[in-house]
Amino acid sequence: MKIKVINGPNLNMLGIREPGIYGKTGYDELISLIEAHAKEKGVDVTVYQSNHEGDLVDEIQKCYKAYDGIVINPGAYTHTSIAILDAVKAVGVPTVEVHISDVDSRESFRQISYIRAACVATISGHGVNGYLEAMDLLLGEGK
Ligand code: DQA
Repeated sequence: MKIKVINGPNLNMLGIREPGIYGKTGYDELISLIEAHAKEKGVDVTVYQSNHEGDLVDEIQKCYKAYDGIVINPGAYTHTSIAILDAVKAVGVPTVEVHISDVDSRESFRQISYIRAACVATISGHGVNGYLEAMDLLLGEGK
């Protein structure tokens, strides 16, 4: 099982940005948690982050016929990007949308998700643990 974890803009600032909302876990720590979980589950994981919409589209396209699942937190592009939605639809790889914060209980603009329509599930408000839950879900052992 090959899973790609993709993070959008400002997620490289985890641990620094608004810790009251996004927690104190740093981005490097998040990568370690994901890699440790993948090892435990026997998953081949690749983690990617970009602040640029087109780069995120390129990375999703690279998953075509190459990955079994995608875990994606598109950051603010969740609420704006039809290009990212189209890329997920194009590759046809099972994708789980993750948000560290509970976007549905925040500002109204965060309650809109373009990508959600192309995802098999959304995990929101479970902190960084949401990434691990998303991997489990793709492995077919989610709750
Ligand atoms: C986020 C929520 C988005 O609204 C925000 O723009 C982010 C992070 C989350 O993980 O909670 O950058 O996707």
